Amino acid sequence: MDEVTRGARALVLCPDIRRLSYDLDAAERLAEAEGLALAIGVVIEHSEILPVRQMQPNTLFGSGQVENIKILCEQHECELVIVDGALTPIQQRNLEDKLKRKVIDRTGLILEIFGERAATAEGRLQVELAHLDYQQSRLVRSWTHLERQRGGFGFLGGPGETQIEADRRMIRQRMGRLRRELEQVRKTRTLHRERRGRAPWPVIALVGYTNAGKSTLFNRLTGADVMAEDLLFATLDPTMRAISLPGVEKAILSDTVGFISDLPTQLVAAFRATLEEVTGADIICHVRDMANPAHSAQKKQVMEVLADLGVVDAETGTSEIPILEVWNKADLLSEDALNELREAASGQDAVLLSAYSGEGVEAFENKIADMLTSSAKEVTVTLPASDGKRLAWLHAHGEVLEDADAGEGEHGAERRLIVRLNPKELGQYASL
Ligand code: GTP
Repeated sequence: MDEVTRGARALVLCPDIRRLSYDLDAAERLAEAEGLALAIGVVIEHSEILPVRQMQPNTLFGSGQVENIKILCEQHECELVIVDGALTPIQQRNLEDKLKRKVIDRTGLILEIFGERAATAEGRLQVELAHLDYQQSRLVRSWTHLERQRGGFGFLGGPGETQIEADRRMIRQRMGRLRRELEQVRKTRTLHRERRGRAPWPVIALVGYTNAGKSTLFNRLTGADVMAEDLLFATLDPTMRAISLPGVEKAILSDTVGFISDLPTQLVAAFRATLEEVTGADIICHVRDMANPAHSAQKKQVMEVLADLGVVDAETGTSEIPILEVWNKADLLSEDALNELREAASGQDAVLLSAYSGEGVEAFENKIADMLTSSAKEVTVTLPASDGKRLAWLHAHGEVLEDADAGEGEHGAERRLIVRLNPKELGQYASL
């Protein structure tokens, strides 16, 4: 993103637009916008909710409001104005002109964060692509804007147009190149996943709204040191580690990117790529920040993303993959609230814990281990007919649905078995 500087003094505005329906209320959205702003390292000098009765096509806010914003900028000596909403390219330009300051909207802000955080090749390519797409639209519109300013002199073929055309061509070419690179990275990733698929460890995916505490829980379970910060989107690329659980020698725990409401369209694709890992999980742990007053609205957002990914049925809310709710940040709750939640948790697939203090984590581990051992999957195994140890193990522990001669393999005669095994048994089998 162009020169948004860390350490810039910023004014954060949350437009509350009449006629738009929001999942979170204005105060919650403002708090979230502040979190996003802090995540790019700016200093928030002032923040405010601005009711918008009627959206102005040129500036979003009414002219009186724009004047007030300018005064606020001067009073608080802000260099940057962050608008937590979608600005059209024209609105952004006009606001910048009038305020004499850099203005960024929610998409710009999230792109900025993603740009800083993406660590894998794929994440970086996706974010850059989303960025160029965003820039491209700004370029086209600002050209229209320029032309209009010139009042119909007909600069067709003039210097302005040539420059814009050249920029557009460059962006298009760069996007084409990025798409090809992405395709390549994806192929490699699919290969990796297929390879991993053959090592049949059960996979546990942590999902949740941004800042819910996924990385903190991940670190506690794995003893790893994944960046856990009070920063939105500290985790952008899925991180995986092996863990052991009571009775389950090995399972793969995967930490994923946090979800957020109103994810800009340019980023949906980037998100989807990192979240594909979730669709292959054996258990999804939905980590929720129960100390956040907006936790119900946040859950709704998470369920919508899971529905989008095809994991949850949008109508019935049922899931193909078992979902365990992890009610986190118990240490921040009052005794009354805790009692209420404890009672509610006992009736459903939910555990109450504090990833921070560790309280409740052992019960959580036991619960996942139980869930892993109760769901069986059909797997096809081909192995040398001479491997008596594994053949005997499969017959003793799994439900063998088929055991047939598979002809000659690399090391002599082979057998192909179709066996039902639960993820725990799969793990045990793999470690034989
Ligand atoms: P994203 O990367 O944005 O998706 O966030 P995340 O879900 O990985 O959250 P993370 O683990 O980074 O935690 C966010 C903040 O919440 C950090 O400041 C943590 O220290 C804090 N936190 C996490 N779990 C707990 C908890 O159980 N209690 C308290 N008090 N704070 C917690």
